[in-house]
Amino acid sequence: MNYTIQEMISEAEIDKRIREMGAQISKDYEGKEVCLIGILKGASFFTCELAKRISVPVTIDFMHASSYGSGTVSSGVVKIDKDVTVSIEGKNVILCEDIVDTGRTLSSLKEVLKEKGANSIKVASLLDKPERRVTELTPDYVGFAVPNEFVVGYGLDYDQRYRNLPYIGTVVFEEGKEEG
Ligand code: IMP
Ligand code: MG
Repeated sequence: MNYTIQEMISEAEIDKRIREMGAQISKDYEGKEVCLIGILKGASFFTCELAKRISVPVTIDFMHASSYGSGTVSSGVVKIDKDVTVSIEGKNVILCEDIVDTGRTLSSLKEVLKEKGANSIKVASLLDKPERRVTELTPDYVGFAVPNEFVVGYGLDYDQRYRNLPYIGTVVFEEGKEEG
């Protein structure tokens, strides 16, 4: 099916918002060190940009998780494909996500990190789709709330594409126009 990508949030707006989030985090963690853990691949861009805007000491790590197939009853269980490489015991962790949808990925990862002995665990997400939530998860820092539409860019993909767009766009399908 043919589709176009329509800009929803500009690069300048994202940049401005991430600066604000960084300032808020720097204030909240004054005198402490934060450990940013980005969830691959989507949150890679956001994690790095956020790190640049935080003025307290920062360490960065990444995890890759995938949810088990939708056919399984064990909703909320994620498989860790790539784990953190440093100890997070006693650390003030901020999990960085591209978007919180159902909230399943992050609620599982929060449990995993709790078991690893983190001192505190918060969630920072560039985008939030609150309408879609099926868990109790509420991100502590949110860039933008978005409607229930499929979005791409700034790390988010559609079939692995468009992660490199510097803005957030929505995928608009053109009905009735089949690809020739
Ligand atoms: P959930 O909160 O566990 O349901 O899953 C969140 C993940 O779903 C995100 O990290 C994205 O990888 C993916 N996702 C959800 N909504 C979108 C979207 O609109 N565009 C691209 N990926 C999305
Ligand atoms: Mg993701």
